[in-house]
Amino acid sequence: MENTLNLNPTSASFAIDPKTNPRALGRDAIQKSVEAIDPLLWKNNWARSQELKLMIESHPLFRHPLIGLLESEDLSNEATKVIHLEFAYAFAQVFTDTIIHAMAGTSELEARLGPLGKVSARFLSQLNLMDELGFCPAPVLNDDYYGSPYHAHYAEFAKTMEQLGVPGMDIYKYSHSEAAEKSRRSFTDQFNDYLLCSSVLACAEQVFTQFAGPWAKSVGKSTNINVSQGYHKIHVEDEAGDFLDDKHSEDTWYLFSQALTENRFEEVKANMENWLDCWNDFCDHIMHVARKLSPKKKPALN
Ligand SMILES: [Fe+2]
Ligand SMILES: [Fe+2]
Repeated sequence: MENTLNLNPTSASFAIDPKTNPRALGRDAIQKSVEAIDPLLWKNNWARSQELKLMIESHPLFRHPLIGLLESEDLSNEATKVIHLEFAYAFAQVFTDTIIHAMAGTSELEARLGPLGKVSARFLSQLNLMDELGFCPAPVLNDDYYGSPYHAHYAEFAKTMEQLGVPGMDIYKYSHSEAAEKSRRSFTDQFNDYLLCSSVLACAEQVFTQFAGPWAKSVGKSTNINVSQGYHKIHVEDEAGDFLDDKHSEDTWYLFSQALTENRFEEVKANMENWLDCWNDFCDHIMHVARKLSPKKKPALN
């Protein structure tokens, strides 16, 4: 019987080495799982995702003045601390949770795309999740997985908080802004809907790449935190020009293009616009905090 679900790699897929490029195989299997059901659907959905990428890139958030402020102004320790506390509540505490909920939500794909639909989505999401949880992609001699929970991105974030003077459980005593609450809900409200979960992840990965570098630079020059390691090192380009979040971002567009059905496109687009507006308000609030807590130094009189 013909294998209509493409459960075996095609000859082109065989050329991709699972030892060296599981990411490419994951993306390939995602695409194949959709093409096996409807050859045109993948092409249409990929075009839809490019349309949404352009929408994100042309939103004011993508060039928010906060980026310039982080690049150029010295902030007080207090401002940097409050920015991290706000970010913790709005994004850091729920980001990995969102990936995990999305991973569970891939069950929704099976009825429409069969076994490979579900498995390929889990496989590719797992690469992002492994990074977030502190695993590393380097090969090791003992042929086992490599990594440490102490290097999970959120653990690294918590270490940065301690360096900023927010020890242990004090992070939960902070009374966050309404803007942070709304941003957090832009993730948590999607937990039970796989398409919206993968949409918010795609949107967030793309936006975050704009802010991570300038934010790391700001922390490096405004505090005594060593940003050549830890949380603010993970999310910026390395010396070789490699950028973890670029890979995550592209992966999430593959996942999104697999999850999308034409009848929900307008709904997804409207949601994305709302999330971008919401995160834009969050950045406005952060700018206000930065300015209020880091008064500009007066020029010396002589
Ligand atoms: Fe991360
Ligand atoms: Fe990421």
